[in-house]
Amino acid sequence: MPIDEIESKRLDLQHHIFHLTLEGNLFRAPLDLERVRNVLDMGTGTGFWAIDFAKLYPQTKIVGSDVSSLERPRSYVKDDLPNLTFVLANAEEEWKFEDRFDYIHGRMMTVVFKDVKRVFQHAFDSLQPGGWLEMQDPYSAIKSKDGSIDGTTWEAVTDKWVKSGEARGVPFGTEPPNYKRYMEEIGFVDVHEEVLVWPTGPWMEDQRMKEIGKWWKINHVQAWQAFHRRSTAVGEAKENEDAELEKLLKDIMNPEIHGYVDL
Ligand SMILES: C[S@@+](CC[C@H](N)C(=O)[O-])C[C@H]1O[C@@H](n2cnc3c(N)ncnc32)[C@H](O)[C@@H]1O
Repeated sequence: MPIDEIESKRLDLQHHIFHLTLEGNLFRAPLDLERVRNVLDMGTGTGFWAIDFAKLYPQTKIVGSDVSSLERPRSYVKDDLPNLTFVLANAEEEWKFEDRFDYIHGRMMTVVFKDVKRVFQHAFDSLQPGGWLEMQDPYSAIKSKDGSIDGTTWEAVTDKWVKSGEARGVPFGTEPPNYKRYMEEIGFVDVHEEVLVWPTGPWMEDQRMKEIGKWWKINHVQAWQAFHRRSTAVGEAKENEDAELEKLLKDIMNPEIHGYVDL
């Protein structure tokens, strides 16, 4: 993804979508907050989650790590949060954090890792006994119960990115269904998988789901524009893909398409 102001704003919007999805909660793991001292947010991005966590739980020490620039635009100034630090670290390489963690959080990391199981292994090795790892990631396949996604450009482009991810060795959102198994193979116990629905437009009756769908539609438009912006910058997108992007965006805006993804 590009690292620019537009992308930073998109990540902030995503934070809002998670806020709606988890009804204001920052996590699902059954944390004993009396005992949680050290927390890691891997791939923290604009750091919104880490900042909120640090504000809500001043007794904890939070590290927000990311492989790329710490200079990216952040919505909040973090200077008044002594319990939060941002560090540059690649989660796929050896972890060199000073402390062991009570809780490790990773969100929207579904299209970034070459080998997510290796990352889980690093997390396992860096947790205190009794600590928790929590991932919140969507599965990239776009679905519809009424068949309205079938045969669309949206479906075809998603499929193309999945194939291109396979060719590059960076799975494009296809790993989340394997997370539970990977964790158990590594030795995590008490592993819970919860599958939530993310409507990709405001087509569901329920007000909260409608709201999620409304923002998710905007997020989807911006995410595909970001993929395109980035692949144009590195010379991967061809001219005819501009037309394809336009068709894809039309699909996303089309109220007749009732898409959703699994989170
Ligand atoms: C889609 S963003 C999600 C950001 C944040 N977790 C959130 O929910 O808003 C993915 C983040 O992963 C970071 N990232 C990519 N590869 C990484 C790696 N190998 N190690 C750590 N972070 C990585 C990117 O720089 C980006 O900030």
